[in-house]
Amino acid sequence: MEILRSVVIFVHLIGFAVTFGALVSQAVSREFRFTRVMEWGVVISFVTGLALAAPWPEGIELNYPKIIIKLVILLVLGGVLGMGNARQRRTGEPVPRGLFWVACALPLIAAGLAVIW
Ligand code: HEM
Repeated sequence: MEILRSVVIFVHLIGFAVTFGALVSQAVSREFRFTRVMEWGVVISFVTGLALAAPWPEGIELNYPKIIIKLVILLVLGGVLGMGNARQRRTGEPVPRGLFWVACALPLIAAGLAVIW
């Protein structure tokens, strides 16, 4: 069970890497577009996060305030990506720069919270 939990945490980290990596790649190429890859990353983080939020194996203690804040951050990120994507499709333009940087900051804050708190 403990190994399984470690595997789910590993996949949870991959979700962060996929989301943040896709954002960094857009920033470095100066395209500033939201992509499907970012959405996949959010879905991976969400599904694995929910699985980890259940108290298994028996006896494990979880920091629920931290988990709830990360859940809220992830939901806001999903909203930001959805809004940006809709706008991108409508106008054909990259997302507004402010929105793009907010999307970068949110997973970073969540990752910082996860490891520092
Ligand atoms: C972008 C969003 C997220 C990021 C960057 C993130 C990041 C991380 C990281 C780096 C870890 C490993 C460090 C640790 O064990 O404390 C972790 C663990 C964990 N995350 Fe997330 N997370 C995110 C979203 C979520 C969500 C939405 C949930 C739940 C709904 C969640 C629940 C958990 C749980 C339960 C653990 C394991 C904690 C433990 O076993 O002690 N995470 N997360």
